Amino acid sequence: MTMKKRSIALLLALVLMLGILPVQAEAEAASGTKLAAITFDDGPSKYTDGLLDELSKRDVKVTFFMQGCNAEQYPSVVKKAYEAGHQIASHTYNHPQLTKLSDKKIKNQLSTTDAIFNNATGVDNSYMLRPPYGSTSDRVLSAIGKPAIIWSVDTLDWKSRNADAVYQHIINDTKDGSIVLLHDLYATSVSGALRGIDTLLEEGYELVTVEELLRRRGFDAVSGKKYFSAAGNITLPGISLPVITSAETEEGYLVSLSADAGTRIYYTADGTAPTSQSALYSGPFQVQSAVTIKAFAAYDLNGGRSQISEVTLDVPRAEMPDISLAEDTATLSAGGEIHYTLDGTVPTADTAQYSGPVPVAAGTMIQAVAIQPGYRNSRVKSLLYSDLGNQFSDINLASWYYHDVDQVVSQGLMTTDHLAFSPDRNVTRRDLVTVLYRLAGRPEPHGTYSFPDVTSNDSAYNALMWAAEQNLISGFEDGALRPNAPVTREQLAVILYRMCPNSPVFTPTALRSFDDWESIQSYAWTSVDWAVSTGILRGISDTQLSPDGTVTRAQLSSIVLRYQTL
Ligand code: NI
Repeated sequence: MTMKKRSIALLLALVLMLGILPVQAEAEAASGTKLAAITFDDGPSKYTDGLLDELSKRDVKVTFFMQGCNAEQYPSVVKKAYEAGHQIASHTYNHPQLTKLSDKKIKNQLSTTDAIFNNATGVDNSYMLRPPYGSTSDRVLSAIGKPAIIWSVDTLDWKSRNADAVYQHIINDTKDGSIVLLHDLYATSVSGALRGIDTLLEEGYELVTVEELLRRRGFDAVSGKKYFSAAGNITLPGISLPVITSAETEEGYLVSLSADAGTRIYYTADGTAPTSQSALYSGPFQVQSAVTIKAFAAYDLNGGRSQISEVTLDVPRAEMPDISLAEDTATLSAGGEIHYTLDGTVPTADTAQYSGPVPVAAGTMIQAVAIQPGYRNSRVKSLLYSDLGNQFSDINLASWYYHDVDQVVSQGLMTTDHLAFSPDRNVTRRDLVTVLYRLAGRPEPHGTYSFPDVTSNDSAYNALMWAAEQNLISGFEDGALRPNAPVTREQLAVILYRMCPNSPVFTPTALRSFDDWESIQSYAWTSVDWAVSTGILRGISDTQLSPDGTVTRAQLSSIVLRYQTL
């Protein structure tokens, strides 16, 4: 066992004993993965473009240690390789033995090559170096100022020029963690490499760039150090697929992307494959029409990238039609064709098409859909023209509370907001005393009461002052009236009982039929008993009264009507 292996084993034992490091949990999730890095030196050449196409078909990423002088000849190939997610790294400008060069000449070889990469790809690709012939010294390592990547599998492809021999070297010599040396200068190297890659994939290898290999094996690639391979017990997982989420908006969709911490997300919204030159995600963005979003996540410096995730968004919906109603006539408008119904059925392209104002009788539900080329049909817009002549945008003819709501609105006890009654919204203290104040005929309050959370310009000011004067509600210990607090069912009973002009007779045992009667608070006992006995308050089921449950506006409309009949 080498010193390096021993220290990794010791570290792993320590991590296992502690058992708390998140990196360990991740490593276990990905353990058993065989990783290897395929590398091509000396190019690019006339064979490299075709090699890139074949690697794309296999979704395999490799590392190209390019000579600057050849990268200069094939800038579009350098760019294509980089954008496909391969690692571009330096093999010097023109392949000198670095041990025979001065520090100054070494640095010149490297900076010239890095500038060529930068010109071709638009980004920095100067991170790693493979010294020609694998030849280094302490002085050279110090002068290059980058991690020096050597290899552990030498295919001798430059010597054999034989695809079968190249293939045999790859499949016989590659082990977990291997860095495999090839040259994309020869057709035999390319074809042998591709056959070898296919076999390694069949054997379960994940083929990654050198940078990703080192990162996922827990190595920090350090300047001036040599790396031959990256075997080891630790395997960190690859980068997760980005998650694409979308929310429908008026104009189309709002798209959000997320990915592993520390990665950047590159995406396209036209169905093409994203590259590192595609849009860089910086926040949710709007798309107008049906599109396919594709995205991948990547670390900087070609440290690996995720697979591509993909979501196709539907065509957005047309906007809902507007319905306006006056004097028994409905007028509809929309961006496209409008189809409607008056009989409670769902409107479709097959129902009546709107061509002008439609006469409607009270007790009719108007429903309309907009149909526009290039869009999905709009959501259905509905307007209920009630028996009593009210208009509701959110109440259905078939709702159990329809007639009760219709009556309280006609009496002016409850109101709609832009035709919406909001039947499911919870009733607050303000809402309740407002209804009772109207029921009492809107009397002018006499006294002056002061509460820290009620101002004189409150729209319900008179109702709240009147309710305080009548002792229907009072301030809490801190003096606050809490008008926005929801009213519970037992509080509702208490307030109604206090308002009742004469104390009616009731059966004191009415509550015992409910399993949860004991949860009624003592101060509310008489009031709730009265409310149940008179039929004003009903159980939420045969056995449950739910005294601390909330009250919806629809329920309040029914309760108020029952209260009025006392
Ligand atoms: Ni070379």
